[in-house]
Amino acid sequence: MTAATPLPSPPSPPSPPSPHSSSPLPPSSCSAGNEAQPPAEAVAPLIRGVAVLEALTGAGGTLSASALERRTGLARSTVDRITATLARTGYVRLDGRDAVLTPRVMELGNAYLAALRLPALLDAHADALADELDESVSLAVADGDGIRFIHQATRRRALSVSFRIGDLLPAERTAPGPLFAAQWTEPEWTAWRARRTADPTDAGFPAVPPRGPGGQDDFVSRAERARQDGWALDDQLIEPGLVAVSVPVRDPASGRPACVASVVSHTSRHTAADLRDTLLPRLRTAVTAMERELREARPPEPGPPPADLATWTTASKHELGRDFVESLARGLTVLTAFGEGRSVLTLTDVAKATGLARATARRALITYEHLGLVTAQDRTFALTPRVLSLGYPPLSRTTLARLVAPHLRALADHLNEPTALAVSVPGSAPEEIQYIAVAATSRVLTVDITVGTRLPATHTALGRALLTPDAPPGYALADEELESGLRSIAVPVRDRAGRPIAALNVATHAARRTLDDCVTDFLPALRTTANAIQTDLHTATRFTRIPLS
Ligand code: PHB
Repeated sequence: MTAATPLPSPPSPPSPPSPHSSSPLPPSSCSAGNEAQPPAEAVAPLIRGVAVLEALTGAGGTLSASALERRTGLARSTVDRITATLARTGYVRLDGRDAVLTPRVMELGNAYLAALRLPALLDAHADALADELDESVSLAVADGDGIRFIHQATRRRALSVSFRIGDLLPAERTAPGPLFAAQWTEPEWTAWRARRTADPTDAGFPAVPPRGPGGQDDFVSRAERARQDGWALDDQLIEPGLVAVSVPVRDPASGRPACVASVVSHTSRHTAADLRDTLLPRLRTAVTAMERELREARPPEPGPPPADLATWTTASKHELGRDFVESLARGLTVLTAFGEGRSVLTLTDVAKATGLARATARRALITYEHLGLVTAQDRTFALTPRVLSLGYPPLSRTTLARLVAPHLRALADHLNEPTALAVSVPGSAPEEIQYIAVAATSRVLTVDITVGTRLPATHTALGRALLTPDAPPGYALADEELESGLRSIAVPVRDRAGRPIAALNVATHAARRTLDDCVTDFLPALRTTANAIQTDLHTATRFTRIPLS
């Protein structure tokens, strides 16, 4: 077999073999995604920390300490110290025996997506196309011999498979795959063949059902056709019913595909041939607009580097001692040095942005290069799409109710009073609010409002905090208006643009607190919790949408 002729453009940097992010392979290979021994200068605790984050991601976000031990092959004491450190960095929450990924971990994937810039420029085009066609539209980039999604404009349907941002698929089982493979050089085809032989069931791609015997042997000819046609189809290669048509979005400077846009459907609505005949022309029009967007985009304004993280890690070490693995916390800050206008950094840039010593930053970069999370070229470094395997897929599908639940629980426990979060009901007249999350207390006399309850907005502190969020001190009180004996204080929760999208309250019995007491005793903690919720929400919604209910 011969490879398709690559376009006469500079060769791409060698890509690592497809990662095996949570395959049931021995820990040495599954944690590193790279069969080679780590270089002598690699930071072992950083390799272990990445293995724990990838294991949690593969498991959907939550694992007990003993499950983490089994999946990573690490000793229990090591797992405990790593999860304690990740809890300190805010990337996991310890809930009894479980370690749970938090929305904050999305700042790692956000660093990659911001540096890549494609989501900021193209997401709105993909969303508009999905609305126009009433079908799902995705954007994917090449990741070794796989494809990884960077955006999903998903239609909710009874019959639909939907992948998440950060999911990795084998190139040969998708429509974008042959469009990327059309550019592969012989070593890349060799790596692809080796992966197919080493992993005959696609165990390294947990997002897809196992590969059956045979099939996809025509990938070389599909890549050649894709190169000639400029589009490609997926006729149920992943699973029965799932069809897709894809077109590359070319980088204006190199002419190579920067990403691939796909329209995804189900055979109950469109056959693959039907997709080509009816939807491909509209996909092409949208891709033309996307390419114009890339051509006309102004160079990005470099965003601010992260705050002085090295100082913070030193303070944490003093506080937590042996349970804080400083080299892991420091190493993770290196990923956040990248971002919009900061896509290609030198060692000096990274050291300056993080406040780390050059030697420390250098060892972290060497470790990440070994793990396939960073590529190095001409003394500069860039993040790879694999950074999305650190938490992104499960968290990109979170809901507001799930995001706020641990915050409400902590606030209710702290004040020993029930708390709730509500949103306004669109189109309701008179205006109503609906409870979407509650945390109760074990007191005998407690407020018993369940998720889903609707109440008139003007009679509740929650409703008033939503309707008049700019009231001078920024909170609302309700005094026995709904029910005698019930007092409540609420504050708004705002989205990235500063718009109030929800309200958070604490309720109490009139016998326990006066209105003044509510302000003095509850408001500071209520505000702290609202801020913590906003921080999570703003991180999680930088490149994804979170449905309000
Ligand atoms: C998707 O976006 O879910 C998708 C795209 C291309 C495929 C399959 C699925 O070939």
